[in-house]
Amino acid sequence: MSARLIMKLRVAEARFITDDTLLLRLVHPSRPQLPAWTAGAHVDLVLPDGKVRQYSLCGDPAERGSYTIAVKREEAGRGGSAWIQESLVEGALAHVSAPRNNFALAETASHHLLVAGGIGVTPILAMARSLAAAGASFRVHYCARSAPTAPLLEELRDICGERLSCWFSEDGRRFTAAAIEAPRDEEHLYACGPLGLIDDLTAHALSLGWSPEQIHAEKFQALRDEDFIPEDFEVELSSTGQRLHVPASSTLLAVLQAHGVPMRTSCETGICGSCICDYSAGDVIHRDAVLQLAERSHRVVPCVSRARGTLTLAL
Ligand code: FES
Repeated sequence: MSARLIMKLRVAEARFITDDTLLLRLVHPSRPQLPAWTAGAHVDLVLPDGKVRQYSLCGDPAERGSYTIAVKREEAGRGGSAWIQESLVEGALAHVSAPRNNFALAETASHHLLVAGGIGVTPILAMARSLAAAGASFRVHYCARSAPTAPLLEELRDICGERLSCWFSEDGRRFTAAAIEAPRDEEHLYACGPLGLIDDLTAHALSLGWSPEQIHAEKFQALRDEDFIPEDFEVELSSTGQRLHVPASSTLLAVLQAHGVPMRTSCETGICGSCICDYSAGDVIHRDAVLQLAERSHRVVPCVSRARGTLTLAL
């Protein structure tokens, strides 16, 4: 793992907000202010084995003294959430990166439509808070199994009032993409939640005439495509003209690093966005969960994505 500022933050508050979701408020042990962030940003939390997990900041971006995240216990996960819930008690130290935002609000939007699925509410809550504070036009759909299992529901209700629609499947109100209508001018759609929800929403929105630039999504799962068979390809660095071969057995990131190209990395699973770089030509096979649709024409995530033929990187 390379070059991303990691801070040791103290757990000032740790409390369960649903049966399986722990809210953590993190502060710097000595500094009154933490690096600034904007709604939609996440931090990396580094586990004792060096692996990292991404968590969206769900507090108030205007409050610089602490970061708030919510960690859901993933029973089928890789153990990171279980370790966090058991170990990050009040007073413990957590290794946390500076915030990064791959899911920012569009400044030019005239109306914002936000969709949260379950724990995907975390960035949506920060967005709703920012939009409400700015007096912006917005609406939120929140989908979950039931009200008691929906994290941060009361906070979202307080911020949104009538602008919030709740969809609780146990109450017979299951959210479907059909709840989304054709876009108004300069309307932007933001969705955070399970892959299936995001894929359905994106496909439906595109079919209704939303442009890729108007659709913003945040997925916390890497792409599952076990049937994918990697193939060799070539890469050219536009600054030097250097050509490198990427064998099927390696990643583009590994090849770049092996040839001394400085790359920021963190998750190495296509989720965090640390290694994103630009390309100017080539047929990219995108396999990440971080780039927005509109970015895919010129940006690539080299820890997971590949190409056909030759890819020219703006490096
Ligand atoms: S290292 Fe996280 S997306 Fe590549």
